[in-house]
Amino acid sequence: MVRSTVFLVLAISAAACDNTSGNVASTKTGDTTHPAERGSPIDDLRAACGDGAPTVLGASAIKRQAYLQQVTSATATLGWVTTNPTGARVRLSAQGDTSSATVPGTVEDYAMRTADESQMWSALESLKPSTIYCYEVADDSEAMTVATGFRTAPDPASTAPVRFLAFGDSGGGGTDQYALLEQMYTVKYDLIIHTGDLAYDDGTIGQFEDTVFGVYGELLKNIPFFPAAGNHEYHTLNGAPFRDVFNLPGDSGEKWYSYDWGRVHFVALDTEADYATQAAWLDGDLAATAAPWKIVYLHKPPYSSGSHGSDSALRNALAPVLARHGVQLLLAGHDHNYERILPQNGTYYVVTGGGGVGTRSVGMSSFTAFAEDVIHFVYGEIGVDEMVLHAIDATGREFDSVVIPRS
Ligand SMILES: [Fe+2]
Repeated sequence: MVRSTVFLVLAISAAACDNTSGNVASTKTGDTTHPAERGSPIDDLRAACGDGAPTVLGASAIKRQAYLQQVTSATATLGWVTTNPTGARVRLSAQGDTSSATVPGTVEDYAMRTADESQMWSALESLKPSTIYCYEVADDSEAMTVATGFRTAPDPASTAPVRFLAFGDSGGGGTDQYALLEQMYTVKYDLIIHTGDLAYDDGTIGQFEDTVFGVYGELLKNIPFFPAAGNHEYHTLNGAPFRDVFNLPGDSGEKWYSYDWGRVHFVALDTEADYATQAAWLDGDLAATAAPWKIVYLHKPPYSSGSHGSDSALRNALAPVLARHGVQLLLAGHDHNYERILPQNGTYYVVTGGGGVGTRSVGMSSFTAFAEDVIHFVYGEIGVDEMVLHAIDATGREFDSVVIPRS
């Protein structure tokens, strides 16, 4: 009786935890004829601003180092958490410019934050496109952080490549998550998108600190981050901590939103919110953009051969909208594997749910082009007429790629 009780408790905690280890190395090979160019995503940004080492917080009041939100070709928002909001500000200068601007930080109050820590936001405006800006965070004690840099989005007319990193279901701070993090320093991207389930297991503020900012903080101080919420984020107060720690565009209450990065229009949806409402909003949003490239990302997959499988209600709601507006790519997570779907009415669908929380076996369906249960991320390079997607595992091996035409 005792033994079976213990077994039951272990089984329940394992299912709730959902945090098993996975395969870090792919054993299969898809199309590897288009290998990604390798290089650091942050070295040039740091070198431009004299940031030669990870930020040393030391005795600083800063409890969550600065991170980039809502970066556009003309604006950016910096967030950080401090125990001393008095006089909080950002000092900003364009690369090589000896003059600097000082932008005050404002406190966002919310219930989940502990009493002695303040969530700060600083809105940076009148920026130039495709430009490196150097910034430091200060307060009334003049305790500056190390100056470091970020790059603004390109002008919509720019024909320079747009490069992004995408992953989902990224874990609870385990070894797989850190193995994949190491590989995230080997490809050059302009922004990071996340397909949801960031903060295991329950999307609490503490879990965001430990499994998001504690893991990716050194990337997020240089690279803009645009996450979509997953079902684990909704375990706590219907996702309130997700919306507290991030500063996301649009007027949906930080649930679904869109933004442009050069020639690419990105849309993040929230698969814990009503599908019909979002499909109608998406129809209008896509009708209003002139961007030649359109990418939609969300958590639950419209097509999947993984353990959760296809969300057919979501597919029925979205697929006609994606086809009508020529969306080239939809990225999802939720199933802890990689799966590339055969194009459906011109749209490529990819499941990227192997960000570090573990893997689960994935089958094959009539719509499957390639599938593998492996810890991985997807790296996209978007040119004028074609996009190349690369799937890279946690050992750094590229195990699949696909070339997606613009039309
Ligand atoms: Fe999920």
